[in-house]
Formats: sequence, structure tokens, C-alpha cells
Amino acid sequence: MFARSIVKAVAKPGFRPAAAFVAPLTRATFSTSVRRSEPEVPVVSYESGQRVEERINFPAGQSGPVNPPGGDQTKSARPLGADAAKHLTPTLSKFTLPGKVAVITGGGRGLGFNMAQALSEVGVRGIAILDVQEDLGDNAARELSEQTGVDVRFYKVDVRDGLGINQTVQDIVDHYGALDVLINAAGIADSNIKAETYPHDKFRRLIDINITGTFLVAQAVGNQMIASGKGGSIINIASMSGSIVNYPQEQSCYNASKAAVVQLTKSLAAEWARFGIRVNSISPGYMDTALNRVPALEAQKRIWVDHTPQKRLGDADDLNNLAVYLASEGSAFMTGNNCIIDGGYCLW
Ligand SMILES: NC(=O)c1ccc[n+]([C@@H]2O[C@H](COP(=O)([O-])OP(=O)(O)OC[C@H]3O[C@@H](n4cnc5c(N)ncnc54)[C@H](O)[C@@H]3O)[C@@H](O)[C@H]2O)c1
Repeated sequence: MFARSIVKAVAKPGFRPAAAFVAPLTRATFSTSVRRSEPEVPVVSYESGQRVEERINFPAGQSGPVNPPGGDQTKSARPLGADAAKHLTPTLSKFTLPGKVAVITGGGRGLGFNMAQALSEVGVRGIAILDVQEDLGDNAARELSEQTGVDVRFYKVDVRDGLGINQTVQDIVDHYGALDVLINAAGIADSNIKAETYPHDKFRRLIDINITGTFLVAQAVGNQMIASGKGGSIINIASMSGSIVNYPQEQSCYNASKAAVVQLTKSLAAEWARFGIRVNSISPGYMDTALNRVPALEAQKRIWVDHTPQKRLGDADDLNNLAVYLASEGSAFMTGNNCIIDGGYCLW
């Protein structure tokens, strides 16, 4: 048996999308004030194998804002009107998803919710949000439906629960009669944990969510896409941590999990190309979401920003257009690709 609940949110006839910014219902709890006057930051380095802890001066105001004002705020989505769609050029119309159905894990907030909004702005008719946090997923479904009129369903399900995921995906197909796009955004992060003392249960939990969960959802959705004979697009949210080792925080498990997501993406892309399924990954750099808005990371964020050529964290909607591109016919010949979108962090 598995625990699962569904919330369906369909806008009432005659609804009008909200024009103003939507209040960030779930962010307040996670916001922390920016301590710009902090004169020093802790740094950990290794010299000839010896671990060295030091503090370096980091003059305030030299590295750009750590948390840009409003960076993680959710903006209101607007649907693409039928009239507007008719006037798009052939190139622009390839970036739309008319009548498509999308599944988004971790869509209750953050990058997943922002990408759900983006898909709802380019013609998607149905979106299923899968998230383990009921209050977040429920709010997200309601907001999305109110803003765009898209038929949104929320499933409270854990991506580690294979049985629950299979049943959820079957219910999505039964309801919408199709399933065209999957964005695998559910994930967790552990950082500042040394490899020497990494607790085994913590390590296994993160791997189970970030890589096994990504696989279980991809498998369930992939099987439906194969059965439909129409293929589809799967987008896995990896991280630049799958390609580089972050500094200064120690986070071996997260880095390894995201490298595995990149390699899983390539493997599935190769196996499923014959079914018309494209599989790509997005590897974000440091993004300004609740995942990073925790007091323990405030000092380190100054280093992250300083090591980013664009001198800022990514906004929560900075992946949106790439997600639309990868989901749409615009990227028809792209599969197995890992797209790094990081303000240039990996260049240095
Ligand atoms: N924020 C960043 O800087 C950053 C950078 C690179 C990659 N990423 C990746 O992007 C993805 C989204 O990150 P975010 O910043 O939006 O995080 P977030 O914490 O704001 O959102 C993640 C969502 O996933 C859900 N979730 C977590 N575990 C789950 C589970 N077992 N089953 C179902 N849902 C679950 C959470 O409830 C939450 O709603 C993650 O995979 C993360 O690793 C984030």
C-alpha cells in the first residue's frame, strides 16, 4: 500500500488570469535576511592533504547581491491566447506545446513550479504536479489553475515510492488521455558534510530521492510514452554539481547524485530514441530558491556569487525558457544533452 492523495484544480469558466504578482505563499518561512555587513567568511581548503580552516575578508558590496530582491518570488503566469497562437511565425510556433500534457515532480515550489508556469504559458492543456509536500503542491495547483485555466492535478506522492509513482502516472494518462512531457525536478540537497563522517543513512536517502526517484518516474512515464506510440520529451533537473565540485562546501553525495542524473539522462536518451522519446538534462548553477535560502549557507553564498562571472544567483525562473525549448519541437534533434545554465560559474 502507498500513501497518495490527489487534488484537482480546474479554473471556473470565465476566470481571468491575475495580472499582478502572486503572493509567494510558501516562501516566507524560508526567507532569511541578507547580512551584507559580514566582514569575513569561513573557508575550508586542503593543502598537501591537510584540512585547513580559515576566514577571509570579503568586503561588503563587492560581489553583487547574494539574494537579489524578489529573486525567488513567483510571478503570475498568463496563458497563450488562441488568437496570439495563430499569429506566431513558424519558428516561434515550434516553441509552443498546444494541447500537450506535462508531469512535473517537485512542482510544489521553486524551479519545478516556475517551469510548470512556463509550460502553462505555451499552450499545455494539462499539468500534473507530483510533490511530497501536500500544502505546497495543493497551493501550486490552485495558483497555476487560477492564473492560466490549465487543468492542473496535484498528487501527493514520494518519488521513491515506485508503486505509488506507477499508479499516479496511470491515473494521469487515464485522466488526460495523453502524456507528452516530464520534468523531473524533485530533489534534495545536503551540504557541509565531510565524506569521512557522512552518515550512511543520509547518504542513502539523498541517492534514493535524487537518482532512484528520477529513474522511477522516468520509467513510469517512459513506459506510457512507449505505449502511446507518440514518444515525448523527458527533462531531468541535474546540477552543475554533476560536472564540477562545488566550493567551499563539502557535499560529495549531492555531487555524485547529480553526475548520476546526467549519465542516466544520456543512457535513457540512447535507449529510447527509437521510441521517439528525447531525454535531456538541465544543470543549473546556484539558484535563488528555498533550497539555498537557509541561514547556514548565507556566508558561503558570498563565495558562490564571487565565483560566478555574472555575479548573481540564478532567479527561480531562469530555467523556464530552456525547459520550454527542451519540451518543444524546437529541440527536436536534441537528445542526451546536458545543458548547463549557471551564470558562467563552470567557466572559472
Ligand atoms: N536551487 C539550486 O541552486 C539548484 C541548483 C542546481 C540544481 N537544483 C536542483 O533543482 C531541483 C529543484 O530545486 P529547487 O531549488 O526548486 O528546490 P526546492 O526545495 O525549492 O523544491 C524541490 C521540491 O521537490 C520536492 N521533493 C523533495 N523530495 C521529494 C520526494 N522525495 N518526492 C517528491 N517530491 C519531493 C519538495 O517538496 C519541493 O517542493 C532539485 O533537483 C535540485 O537538486 C537546484
